[in-house]
Amino acid sequence: MIKAAIMGHGTVGSGVYEVFEMNAEKIARVVGEPVEVKYVLDLRDFSALPYGHKFVTDFSVIENDPEITVVAEVMGGVGAAYEFTRRCLLAGKSVCTSNKELVATRGEELLKIAEEKGVNYMFEASVGGGIPIIRPMLQCLAANEFNEICGILNGTTNYILTQMIHNGVTFADALKQAQLNGYAEKDPTADIEGHDACRKICILADLAFGDKFDPDQVPCEGITKITLEDVANADKLGCVIKLLGRTVRCEDGTAYAYVAPHLIHKESPLAAVEDVFNAIMVNGNATGDVMFYGKGAGKLATASAVVADMMDCIEHAGHRRRISWGDGSKNLLRPLDTLQSAWYVRFKGASRDLEALLPVESLTEPVEGVTVVKTRKLSTAEMQEKIEKLNACGEVRAAMRML
Ligand code: HSE
Repeated sequence: MIKAAIMGHGTVGSGVYEVFEMNAEKIARVVGEPVEVKYVLDLRDFSALPYGHKFVTDFSVIENDPEITVVAEVMGGVGAAYEFTRRCLLAGKSVCTSNKELVATRGEELLKIAEEKGVNYMFEASVGGGIPIIRPMLQCLAANEFNEICGILNGTTNYILTQMIHNGVTFADALKQAQLNGYAEKDPTADIEGHDACRKICILADLAFGDKFDPDQVPCEGITKITLEDVANADKLGCVIKLLGRTVRCEDGTAYAYVAPHLIHKESPLAAVEDVFNAIMVNGNATGDVMFYGKGAGKLATASAVVADMMDCIEHAGHRRRISWGDGSKNLLRPLDTLQSAWYVRFKGASRDLEALLPVESLTEPVEGVTVVKTRKLSTAEMQEKIEKLNACGEVRAAMRML
């Protein structure tokens, strides 16, 4: 009998317990023996649950129990979660997590400790919830150089945008619904301001390019400024608005990485990704585009990825997965200034100023003084300069990249 522990009994943690219960036979068949969740760590009172007797509030019970060989860290955050993960690894226990904030900010350090102790630190659930993406990048696509990764990486914002696009629901109401469904982070700021997607694109860039991309350095813009007017304008241009995390390799080995809302053409496979679903497009230099699609958030979908990692650790006990990246000292993150894009601009002011300043591809007739423009490609630095000039003679109400 294998003994496991779960640290954190929130949405994902309770899901991890449920998956172990629901699929006990299948899990035992795959790993070769039954797995028992011996402890669940949480400070809150869950004594009324049928498995209430398994709850502990003292982490050292898990740390000091030699029977526990694998632990799920589903607490979130970088405080206690970091400390407990570090101590589990130092105690020779493998740790599997959905905690993207911790992986993105301290992953390289924790992977190094795991390596030194001959155990595993695995994080399939940290990007794309239930979608397999980490393992495919490490294994199936390992023979490729990665050219570009571009994805809808946050279920909450995709759900909100879908509600705005199809049902004309306000941003606030759609956010409330996402929270009720358990998609949103405790503090929805991380979702709606793009920080959650930013952590995820950083993890994918770390894996793709082998050095740390620091979420604090990666440009990040969320969806809070998007209005139903932009949604309608996008539709007229044959596009939908999606929040994308994107990283693109440059010839000199550096890479752009950023999170921002984009207008994408309705024919793009990413445009059809709706509600809480996520999709990640990976372009490898041998495979071309490969797309991963599925539920990017939610209790059981995310828990299934955590449990699968735990099964992998159990099945391959004593063997290490070779996962690592550098500490960021290679400075691979390239500033966005030179990134070329076509832009959508909503401008209140004289159309002639727009035409004088921007390389216009198409523009609408002004409605109440507001004109919508699609530009030809120009760099981020050029666009910023144009926005400043346009704001001197009118008001740029929205500007988004188009893909
Ligand atoms: N809040 C996250 C999302 C959860 O909405 O995608 C999964 O990381």
